[in-house]
Amino acid sequence: MLIDIVSVFPEYFDVLNLSLLGKAQDKGLLEFKVHNLRDWTHDVHHSVDDTPVGGGAGMVMKPEIWASCLDDLLGIPPLTDIRDADPERGKNSNAILVFPNPSAPTFTQNDATELSHADHLIFGCGRYEGYDGRLPAYYEAQGFDVREYSIGDYVLNGGEVAVSVMVEATTRLIDGFMGNHASIEEESYTGSEGLLEHRQYTKPASWRGMNVPEILLSGHHAHINRFRRDEELRRTSEIRPDIIEKLDCRTLDKKDRKI
Ligand code: ADE
Repeated sequence: MLIDIVSVFPEYFDVLNLSLLGKAQDKGLLEFKVHNLRDWTHDVHHSVDDTPVGGGAGMVMKPEIWASCLDDLLGIPPLTDIRDADPERGKNSNAILVFPNPSAPTFTQNDATELSHADHLIFGCGRYEGYDGRLPAYYEAQGFDVREYSIGDYVLNGGEVAVSVMVEATTRLIDGFMGNHASIEEESYTGSEGLLEHRQYTKPASWRGMNVPEILLSGHHAHINRFRRDEELRRTSEIRPDIIEKLDCRTLDKKDRKI
C-alpha cells in the first residue's frame, strides 16, 4: 500500500518511521510519502490560505494549491473547468482520497477495515478553518473515491493528528502487519457485532488483595468463553448502549438474552 500524506507541517509524521509502522515499511507492506503542501505554491510567501468568502474568522485553504498537489499525486492533468470533468477518470484509479474534517461522519473500525484493502491512500491535512468546500466535490465529479471523516466530537487545530489516528487504525489491519492476527479479530468494534472487548488480566492471580475472576483460572474453556461474552455484553450495554440497540437478534443465543 502506498500512503501519501500532504500537510503544511510534514514533521508531524516523522514518527511514522518508528515502531510497527517502520517495520511494515521495512517488510515492504507499506510505503509512506509525506509532502509539504507549500511545495505547490508559486508566490514568495508560499501562502496556502486566504480569508473566507462571506466573512468570518480564520483562514481557508485555497483550492488551487490543493488541486495542483493532488493532481500530481494522482498523476492526472489539471482541469480548467469542472464541466469538462470525465466521471470515468477516477474509476480507473486505485486511489482513495481522505480528508479529515470535524464536520464529517465519524471514522469507525469498519472504515479502517475498508481503507486497509486499498492500494493507494492520499490523506490531505487541512489547517486553520479547513480546505475550500469545493475540493471534495471537484474530485468526486471526476469519479474519484473521496472520503471525509471526523475522528470524534471535538475540534483539533488541524488534520495532522486525525490523519495519524486514521493511518494507525488502518495500517495495523493490513494482512501481515500484526504478528498475531487473532488478536485483531478479538478486539472491540470488530466482527459483525462490534461489542466492546472484555477486560484482560495477567499474573499474578492475586495482587494487592485483588483477585482475577475465579473462572479464568478454571481451565474450562466453554465457561471462560461464556464469562467473557457476558462481560462484553454487559460492558457494551453500560458504556455504548447504541451498539447494543443495533445488534442483530439473530446473532444472539438464549444465554445472551439473560444479560
Ligand atoms: N480537524 C480538526 N478537528 C478534527 C476532527 N475532530 N476530526 C478530523 N479532523 C479534524
